[in-house]
Amino acid sequence: MSKEINILNSNKEDIKDAESLKQLEFINKAKEYVSSMEKELGRKLTACVVTFGCQMNARDSEKLVAILKLAGYEESDSENADFVIYNTCTVRDNADQRVLGRLGQCGSYKKKNPHMKIAICGCMMQEQSSVEKIQKSYRFVDLIFGTHNIYKFAELLCTCLESDRMIIDIWKDTDKIVEDLPVLRKYPFKSGVNIMFGCNNFCTYCIVPYVRGRERSRSPKEIIRECEKLVADGVKEVMLLGQNVNSYGNDFKEDDPNRITFPQLIEEVCKVDGLERVRFMTPHPKDFSDELLDVIARNSKIARHIHLPLQSGNTEILRRMNRKYTKDDYLNLVYKIREKLPEVAITTDIIVGFPGETAADVDDTIDVVKKAQFDNAFTFIYSKRTGTPAAGFDNQVPENEVKENFDRLLKVVQETARSQSEKLSGKTESVLVEGVNEHDTTLLTGRLSNNTLVHFAGDESLIGNIIDVTLDECHGFYFMGHRA
Ligand code: SAH
Ligand code: SF4
Ligand code: F3S
Repeated sequence: MSKEINILNSNKEDIKDAESLKQLEFINKAKEYVSSMEKELGRKLTACVVTFGCQMNARDSEKLVAILKLAGYEESDSENADFVIYNTCTVRDNADQRVLGRLGQCGSYKKKNPHMKIAICGCMMQEQSSVEKIQKSYRFVDLIFGTHNIYKFAELLCTCLESDRMIIDIWKDTDKIVEDLPVLRKYPFKSGVNIMFGCNNFCTYCIVPYVRGRERSRSPKEIIRECEKLVADGVKEVMLLGQNVNSYGNDFKEDDPNRITFPQLIEEVCKVDGLERVRFMTPHPKDFSDELLDVIARNSKIARHIHLPLQSGNTEILRRMNRKYTKDDYLNLVYKIREKLPEVAITTDIIVGFPGETAADVDDTIDVVKKAQFDNAFTFIYSKRTGTPAAGFDNQVPENEVKENFDRLLKVVQETARSQSEKLSGKTESVLVEGVNEHDTTLLTGRLSNNTLVHFAGDESLIGNIIDVTLDECHGFYFMGHRA
């Protein structure tokens, strides 16, 4: 649940975008509906936003929460609420299955609460087959919309509250970016900031370009304005978000004065007074420039962490994935980063079981893991996504082979991650205190600039501050430490 922090952009005076102003009016209209239902029921109404998937979805959900709160709903962690919305992910099949499982359960709450409204939005809803499945087997859903018209949520909420029918509004694509929507952050002290939407890379296994549309960059002025507003509202750390941040600005016309590169943008963001840490995700290895390395080197505000998805260490698999780099290109980039920025942690994503992948191909991936000495890696089993080129490739790999390769890889990933982590033992590092430890409430949890987590004894009042912590004991992915 969001901490009590201000809803940014809920004041007409702050808002420049005409569409956002229109949506504020719909929020007011929704507020009237909610208040009349409150009178009828003699109680407050509650709303629950359930988020799946990546940081982009998490950021979108912060907008959904803000709109529901402004409309008068109380935020709830339980799906046994008056309004429930699922913001979905479809990057792998298990993401789809998790959504459908939760949705089924939610349908049983609705049987007991006839006032309940259930909505579903996000990436999964950009696939026609998923929408058809909901229409057929989950008739109790009230509202379905996609990724391109999420800015219209207030308007759709009104339509949904006015009607008893299933409302479906899905757009194929958009070139529109709506600024200044209200947003209620999950964390008071850190925030994602979208710098671009969509993806043009079409890696052959990936559904994202189909469900998020073409690349659209936000104007640098709007990005800086958002960062300034966030800092004024207590934010210390921002994460600049895009599917390939290195292609930021490529969609601007040659003569557009807004046309700046990602390294130039991040340098501008670093100039925002009061901002203490800047992260970014995700850079594509094929477009990683020396200019970006130089900018990181000279700006201590930029976090010492680069997430650099490898996907595979075999050049032929990489070619068939349409990643546009070879095993050597990737390794040379890693060596360059390690040489120029030795304190930077490098993490990665790896897919096992891409069509036609052999055990020898996985050996290449393992070789890269050993040579790159990744500080951490997310390993995924290939999931066939209908509509992507790879879904039609021959030689889908049998499950047992994938499992064997996956386990082999995981072992090496864990070994390298641990040995990288251990290098920090005994050091004192600055840490952004993020919250009370989930398992032991006498402990706080903080994050190093290089993204490593540390747990240490301390008082809740430190949350949101950057303090020095000594790293005592390495436990693989995290440390136990004490305040220096
Ligand atoms: N834009 C980012 C990745 C976004 S998706 C990039 O290019 O790196 C996050 C991760 O999900 C990817 O890095 C990839 O490892 C994984 N992924 C994407 N599609 C997948 C699929 N069909 N099966 C398994 N993993 C997949
Ligand atoms: Fe998917 Fe590739 Fe785009 Fe990343 S760069 S979102 S993996 S298509
Ligand atoms: Fe998932 Fe959509 Fe993100 S498919 S990973 S939520 S862009």
